[in-house]
Amino acid sequence: MSEPVELLSAELILRELCAESQRRLRNLEILLEVDSTSTRLMAAKPPPRGVADVCTTELQHAGRGRLGRRWIAPFGSGLAMSVAWGFGDAARALPALSLGVGVAVSRALMRSGAAAIGLKWPNDIWYRGRKVGGVLVEVRAEAGGAAQVVIGIGLNVHLSAAARLEIEAGGARVAAVADACRAPPSRNVIAGALLDELLSMLVQFEHGGFAALRDEWTALDALNGRLVLLQQGERQSQGIARGADVDGALLLEIDGRLQRFVSGEASLRLIEGEI
Ligand code: BTN
Repeated sequence: MSEPVELLSAELILRELCAESQRRLRNLEILLEVDSTSTRLMAAKPPPRGVADVCTTELQHAGRGRLGRRWIAPFGSGLAMSVAWGFGDAARALPALSLGVGVAVSRALMRSGAAAIGLKWPNDIWYRGRKVGGVLVEVRAEAGGAAQVVIGIGLNVHLSAAARLEIEAGGARVAAVADACRAPPSRNVIAGALLDELLSMLVQFEHGGFAALRDEWTALDALNGRLVLLQQGERQSQGIARGADVDGALLLEIDGRLQRFVSGEASLRLIEGEI
C-alpha cells in the first residue's frame, strides 16, 4: 500500500527553528513546482548579509546536480531546498563551504531520527555507502572580498522502488532517509531541522570558517582510511583517504606522501577482504 504524501507546510517547518534562526530567515517560499529552487534563487535579488532567503518545493522539473548532472526526485517524496546567503569574507568561506553544509545536513538528519549518516567528500550525504542526498553550492557574485551564494540541498526522504530504479539507471547507488530511520520520517520535521541547522552553521562558519567544524566533519567522513579513486576529468589518482584540510581539500596518501585535491569525484575502491 502506498503512503499518503505529506505536503510541505510553513507552519510545521518554522516550528523546528530556534529564535535566532527565525530572526535570520527573511523569506521562506514553498512552491508546488518549479524548474529548480537554486535557479530561482540565483535569479532573485540577494538578501542582505546575515539573513537568508529560502525556496523549497514539492517538485523540480529541472533539478540540477553537481558536474552538470540532473537531480531527480518524484513529487512530494524528497526534499529540495535552496538557501541564498551572503558572506563578508569570501576567501575564508567559500572553499570549504560545501563540507560545512554536509555537517549541517547530518546534524539535521540525526536530529530527525536518522542513524549512521556519513559524508563522502566533497558533498554527498551517505547511508551505508549509498547516496541519500547531495549539496550544490553556487556563487552568484563576488565583490570587494564578499560573496553571495546559493546553497542547494537535495535529499531522498522516501523512495519508491520505481524511483530507486530510475535514479540508479544513471549509475548512482541511492538510499532514502527513511532507510536510516526506525519510524517513517516527516518531511516537514526534516525541512525545519535542515533550515535551523543550516542557518546556525552559516553563522558559525562566518566566524570560524571550516576549522570550527572540521573535527565534526572528520567524525562523519565515510572515506577516512579507505582506498579511494579520485577522478578529475581525464586524470585519476588513487590513495588512502586521510580526511580534509582546513580549506576543505581532500587529503590522499599516495606512495607514503600526503597530497591535497581541491576538486574531483571520489569513489571507494575495495581492498581485498574488505566489505
Ligand atoms: C549533487 O549532485 O549531489 C547535488 C544535488 C543538489 C540538488 C539540489 S535539490 C535543491 C537544489 N535545486 C537544484 O536544482 N539542485 C539543488
